[in-house]
Amino acid sequence: MPATSVIGLQWGDEAKGKFVDVLTDQHDVVCRYLGGNNAGHTVVFDGKTFKLSLLPAGVLHPGKTAVIATGVVLDPAALLNEMDRAEQSMGGPVPPEGTELLISDRAHLIFPWHLAEDAALETDRGDAGQQKIGTTLRGIGPCYRDKAGRTHAVRAGDLLRPDRFRRRVAEVCAFKNRLLGAMTASAGKGDFEPFDADEIADRYLGFAERLGPYLTDTTAYLLNAVDSGKSILFEAAQGSMLDIDHGTFPYVTSSNSSGCGVHPGSGVPERHLDTMLGVVKAYSTRVGGGPFVTELEDETGDRIRTRGNEFGTVTGRPRRCGWFDAVAARYAARLSGVDALAVSLLDVLDGFEEVKICEAYELNGQRTTDFPSHADDLAEATPVYRTLPGWSEDTTGCRTYADLPANARTYLETVAEVLGTELKYVGVGPDRAQTIRV
Ligand code: GDP
Ligand code: IMO
Ligand code: MG
Repeated sequence: MPATSVIGLQWGDEAKGKFVDVLTDQHDVVCRYLGGNNAGHTVVFDGKTFKLSLLPAGVLHPGKTAVIATGVVLDPAALLNEMDRAEQSMGGPVPPEGTELLISDRAHLIFPWHLAEDAALETDRGDAGQQKIGTTLRGIGPCYRDKAGRTHAVRAGDLLRPDRFRRRVAEVCAFKNRLLGAMTASAGKGDFEPFDADEIADRYLGFAERLGPYLTDTTAYLLNAVDSGKSILFEAAQGSMLDIDHGTFPYVTSSNSSGCGVHPGSGVPERHLDTMLGVVKAYSTRVGGGPFVTELEDETGDRIRTRGNEFGTVTGRPRRCGWFDAVAARYAARLSGVDALAVSLLDVLDGFEEVKICEAYELNGQRTTDFPSHADDLAEATPVYRTLPGWSEDTTGCRTYADLPANARTYLETVAEVLGTELKYVGVGPDRAQTIRV
């Protein structure tokens, strides 16, 4: 049975959620395997809009199994809030009857001190005169840092051992109070209100009463699922250019958000993957700091932002907008072995007289199609554009590839060709129905 991976090839918000929703029917299991509630995935159908953050988009489909796998960093309060919100929008229980939700007992837990560290480190960077990373302030980086550091990490499975959990929270909390107290004092930022270990342990053990039934060894589940012929759909979060190892470091997130993260995040070996679907917007956006070669800080950028409603799902921040950066997307596609392409938000470019694709960078007087490994070089790079004629027609009603204006098809085919991938899907609106299968 086929396993499919859906990843973003830009800086996140490529419409991964929408394509996961579209592909869920063809799979038995939908698995989210990295990131945390920094992600915001939008799914629109039957006139309803769902904004999902930790729940895999498959949770909205009765009869499927939704897995939150090991590589995810889990804020239990955020997850429970999200489940409550989804219940209101669905008008019924989430997960719906017949849908299974499984959460990895190996997933690392986000605590209030992680949010405090995230804010303190961002402020410190700003105070030091450096550009902020512009994180979502959800404690993602500090939680992954503790996971890699091991000494002060707590995992979801610890919630099922209350005595051990209390002891662990007391130890870690005492250390975090010392750390954050010292950071606050040395920065002259006023008084630090220490965290109360007992209160936090009580609160988290309260969450465990609701989440406990879902906690399990998801790696064993997924490997058994593969062995028994079930098909798995992997739902990435963030985008390849935010990958901790391969992205625009340090302006990245703290996990492998390119296709490189599927195996470590889920435990399922790559040889089981049949399709690596890369999702790109028809243009580029980025939220937060960091170099952005094709950024348009002009009327064209504003026009894309307004037409594409480019404001962050999680933080509401305006997204930075620019022309399609094919150098970055091609690098991302090659890095993850992308063999199928989905281009979303094509409709946003309707009505532009001309549209541009950045097919090379000019760096140190040389033209290159290689993506620079250092952020300083990326900041120096200037875009070399290929300009194509735009289209005046409204594409939002198009339902087949042939319905699309000829210039839009040329644009899509140019993108696919530069990326060296096969165009499989085109998005012409947020609704599930506004999807063209090529
Ligand atoms: P994700 O994080 O990759 O799942 O993407 P987000 O949900 O954060 O951002 C994509 C945004 O674009 C959401 O508001 C979607 O509803 C919307 N969207 C998705 N596909 C299309 C499309 O083809 N056209 C338009 N206009 N909007 C789309
Ligand atoms: P989805 O899954 C867009 C960005 C943040 C910031 C950087 C680090 O919806 O595509 P973090 O909080 O992870 O430490 O922030 O990464 N970022 C995203 N940008 N979409 C996302 O997720 C993102 N998740 C993190 O804005 O620049
Ligand atoms: Mg998003």
